[in-house]
Amino acid sequence: MNALTGLPISRVDGPEKVTGQAVYAAEFRLKNLAYAALVTSTQGHGWITAIDTSHASRMPGVLAVITHENAMRLPYKPLQEHPVVDPQSGERLHVLQGNEVLFVGQPIAVVVAETQEQARGAAGLVTATYAPGPTHFTLDRKRAEPPDDPVEASGRPGETHRGDAEAAFAAAPVQLDAHYSHEREHHNAMEPHATIAAWDGDRLTLYDKSQWVDNVRSEIAHVFGMAEAKIRVISPFVGGAFGSALRTWPHVTIAALAAKHVGRPVRLELTRRQLYFSIGFRPCTEQHVRLGATADGKLTAIIQEAVGQTSVYEQYAEVTLEPPRKLYSCPNVMTRYRLVPMHTNSPCPMRAPGTATGVMAHEIAIDEMADALDIDPVEFRLRNYAEHDEDKNLPWSSKELRACYRMAAEKFGWSQRSAKPGGMRHGQAVVGWGMATAFYPANRAAASAQAVLYANGSAVVRTATSDMGPGTYTAMTQLAADTLGVPLDNVDFELGDTDMPKAPVHGGSTTLASVGNAVVAACQALREKLSGLAGPDGVPDNLPGLVALLARHGLQSVQAEAESKPGDETKRFGTAAFGAVFAEVRVDPLLGTVRVPRLVGAYDIGRVINPKIARSQCIGGMVGGLGMALLEQAEWDAKLGRVMNANLAEYLVPVNADVEHLEAILVPSEDFHFNPLGSKGVAEIALTGVAPAIANAVYNAIGRRIRDLPITPEKLLLA
Ligand code: MOS
Repeated sequence: MNALTGLPISRVDGPEKVTGQAVYAAEFRLKNLAYAALVTSTQGHGWITAIDTSHASRMPGVLAVITHENAMRLPYKPLQEHPVVDPQSGERLHVLQGNEVLFVGQPIAVVVAETQEQARGAAGLVTATYAPGPTHFTLDRKRAEPPDDPVEASGRPGETHRGDAEAAFAAAPVQLDAHYSHEREHHNAMEPHATIAAWDGDRLTLYDKSQWVDNVRSEIAHVFGMAEAKIRVISPFVGGAFGSALRTWPHVTIAALAAKHVGRPVRLELTRRQLYFSIGFRPCTEQHVRLGATADGKLTAIIQEAVGQTSVYEQYAEVTLEPPRKLYSCPNVMTRYRLVPMHTNSPCPMRAPGTATGVMAHEIAIDEMADALDIDPVEFRLRNYAEHDEDKNLPWSSKELRACYRMAAEKFGWSQRSAKPGGMRHGQAVVGWGMATAFYPANRAAASAQAVLYANGSAVVRTATSDMGPGTYTAMTQLAADTLGVPLDNVDFELGDTDMPKAPVHGGSTTLASVGNAVVAACQALREKLSGLAGPDGVPDNLPGLVALLARHGLQSVQAEAESKPGDETKRFGTAAFGAVFAEVRVDPLLGTVRVPRLVGAYDIGRVINPKIARSQCIGGMVGGLGMALLEQAEWDAKLGRVMNANLAEYLVPVNADVEHLEAILVPSEDFHFNPLGSKGVAEIALTGVAPAIANAVYNAIGRRIRDLPITPEKLLLA
């Protein structure tokens, strides 16, 4: 039964979203709800010597002002095993437990009031004085250190060697040696982070913006020293997250603490400005790439080193250097990753964390090498095509990257390109064409789901996953309807509740390959049960037949639950999604502006469950990549240790006017070595490759390399 799988079905949750019926974390209506507002540190490091809450406490409607002086003590039990989204070393921020502040924006008090306005107004009246401490506000390479606990096998950082890269580089006939960087970036999802916390005796319910409700439950259970079974986390809709809702941030703890303090349910919604300080961000990174090649264009040495920022209390490390180990065939590869602790809030995953930035530096360097060798960039990549995963020394479970290059190049018209910079013009603008490879590892985790078929022919399928926008609701509904043999409209897919069967993190492009298989398994298990009822005639493949079957047995419903988990496939195969991105830019040499009239991407994402939504993810990723290339950056004040443009007026993200023609090609691909569904996942792959393709196009236009993203007008005019 594959009637729906592969069809371009419109989002099943679309009507709820566009009519405002979808309820987001901050919108749950609870009786007696009180509202909270944070007061945050103005110091990058120091100790609060006095905190004056007297004015705030006297303001109308104020129920409580909670600081480290009167907050309940929290046990903050260590997590036995760090979930994949938490830093592997260091200790999470303990909020309102002491007087030390470690970064600007750290919560130092919370005001609870009858209304949101009263809470925010009073929060502005809390004042603190500090004894300042020594601060580190720059990405100072002298302070770079290896991560405490590098886990090379998982692609986590440290140092890796294949062959002898230094010797091979020294001996290489053609060498490239260049530095690349990108600025700190913020997620800027439309929906602000928010939590409503409600206690009922010793039981706690949290309505939270989350990409992983099970992890919120676990984290809060450890922070409060309570049993996980006493906590329920509900998160049916997420208005964009891009990684920011993977972890459980301090404001969730504060909401629960405040609710306990005032004995009422409390809502804590972060302000737009607080989203730059109270959740994570993509850390700024500096990279040094050295490539060696023979004169006929064979890579002989790849050396890529990265230094990223982290906080002083946790080591957030990224898989920045996996791309140089996997993208091309090369006998000698060395990667080295280092962290610089700074007085900032902790960074966190954001849109292809690490991989996007590693691909960025690598793919610009590869373009530079192709240029030095006078070989077409696509041809150079094909000459160094990695036929197998040389990092793991395993065959790929699937790889249609050649098809990606070919199909995207054809669509783009790459053969018409002028290799010489400045060879194409459009009015006053210089036109440039560039391309890059896209890459993202394919991963899968254990997931469970429950399926219920009712006597009237309707079905409910549920699992504690999330849908931050990629279309989980829709893809899962399609898979469930097909497997059960009922029409799409008869299936209700439910997610985002810890009362549902366990699901893994909704991130890392893993949801379809993980939860998708669980949904199919649960629906198959349900059909097995029906098969027991049906006897030799078999289970009907149509709705009236199924309804009649249940009626014959006098059953109101039949239900089944199943788990689906990875086997040893990642020990037998390298697993990844691939792509090729081609960009056209128009650079105005007088104004230094860059327009992107065209982006064409071809992606190998395995089997496509819903081409409409997969395409939507691809063009969304392209827009994110365009932002990374040209616009997005936190303007960091290295004297005060704060983001200066902490608002959507000054932190630039692409808007419709920045985006012109986007084209996403889904190349034919299936990956049954990787998982039974054959899908590899979309999401992050679509963003990777876009920024270097644009940067390479800018070079093709003006003949000058901009190696520091974003490529802003001042860099084009002044460099
Ligand atoms: Mo994504 S950064 O795994 O939410």
